[in-house]
Amino acid sequence: MNKKLYIETYGCQMNFSDSEIVASVMTSHDFDITTGPHDADVIFLNTCSIRDHAEQRVLNRLRALQHLRKKKPGLLIGVLGCMAERLKTGLLEDKDLGMRIDMVVGPDAYRQLPQLLMDAESGQKAIDVMLSADETYADISPVRYGADGVSAFISIMRGCENFCAYCVVPYTRGKERSRDPESILSEATQLANKGYREVTLLGQNVNSYRWPGRDHGQPLVFSELIGMVAAIDPLLRVRFATSHPKDMSDQLLHAMARYPNICKAIHLPMQSGSSAVLRRMNRKYSRQDYLNRVGAIRAILPECGISTDLIAGYCGETEAEHRDTLSVMQEVGFDFAFMFKYSERPDTLAAKKYPDDVPDQVKTRRLTEIIHTQQALSLKSNRRDVGSLQEVLVEGYSKRSKNHLMGRTGHNKVVVFPACEVQPGDYAVVEITGCSSATLKGVLRQKGLLQQAGRQDG
Ligand code: 5AD
Ligand code: SF4
Repeated sequence: MNKKLYIETYGCQMNFSDSEIVASVMTSHDFDITTGPHDADVIFLNTCSIRDHAEQRVLNRLRALQHLRKKKPGLLIGVLGCMAERLKTGLLEDKDLGMRIDMVVGPDAYRQLPQLLMDAESGQKAIDVMLSADETYADISPVRYGADGVSAFISIMRGCENFCAYCVVPYTRGKERSRDPESILSEATQLANKGYREVTLLGQNVNSYRWPGRDHGQPLVFSELIGMVAAIDPLLRVRFATSHPKDMSDQLLHAMARYPNICKAIHLPMQSGSSAVLRRMNRKYSRQDYLNRVGAIRAILPECGISTDLIAGYCGETEAEHRDTLSVMQEVGFDFAFMFKYSERPDTLAAKKYPDDVPDQVKTRRLTEIIHTQQALSLKSNRRDVGSLQEVLVEGYSKRSKNHLMGRTGHNKVVVFPACEVQPGDYAVVEITGCSSATLKGVLRQKGLLQQAGRQDG
């Protein structure tokens, strides 16, 4: 009988995508994936280091899982991903941690998992945190163990070399490298053939995707790649994440305009509205540069949704610099934002160069102001949709009630509407009748795409 593996994933979409690679490696080595830790022979936590809070959550969870060893003496617990890469052998020091961890595996070492598992089974400490300049797992077909059969991630590149001063990712995920386009296209085609209706192309900075041309030809860039994916099937929605503002090209915006099935939604992390703070963050653009990119989006894709990431209380942030963030939020009118308190990460440029000098209660107050500002903007954005017809891809039932379906618009807004003849994986034209700052509510008007019902926007 096969052994059972339980995987728990923390952090970004890239980590969820990596867990599907891990599942693929392990299921081809006599493991089945199980949905909970209690019957597992092996438990992997695929971890995130982006903020201290993320790491503390994982450490608490690892502590809570230790009691399972009593029931299952052979149980092996492994730490994968960014924390494994950052903390390395530190995670194997039982005395310092106050618990036992059997395996430590960084994000470029997942092919070694079966060997590492054998080492761990024989009682050795198993660790591999080698980063690679070329590993993309291009030939590994992800096992979509947690999938809804509607929407899937496709990793198109790995690593990051931007070295934003606050960020741990270049250290945990290594050098930037792009994945062979043929393997990307065949993965997308297979998903479409299996009935998937949406793919999200993933990379830390998809706009620097490039694949060398044959015979010294022009390299293939992201704006071309996304068009090739969109051309596979008009019923397959295409999304992407994430874009660095300094690299987001007009060519990409034109490609998005050309294909109705590329979702008109751009996640463009701004981090701060102050040019001085952006300089200290090593973001390589100013407030005005960012606003110029937003201007290009509005000009080429008038209906495009724009979302962002913002950090409150970065090193040296003054009250005036914080207000620059609040004012730029109003100026852009973001549809959605992820908002964080700055958390110093050891060994980053910021940790070496700038003191983490904004007191925690000031960070909290500034974050609250940012959140309130965004709630009002999200509500405004959602209210604009009330009365419109939206093309919704149905994902499943609403979390709150089995009498309601849940899906997303192309702008990535969640829509809830009464259950009816449509099924998960169907497109539905929904008339929006109400909203909160987080959700649109509506009623089904018609099955199928909005094009067939007369599109309301570009
Ligand atoms: N502290 C707080 N937020 C951070 N982010 C990245 N590093 C940090 C940090 N040290 C945020 C950024 C990034 C998102 C994924 O997480 O906003 O875009
Ligand atoms: Fe977390 Fe960043 Fe690693 Fe993703 S890449 S898991 S967000 S630290």
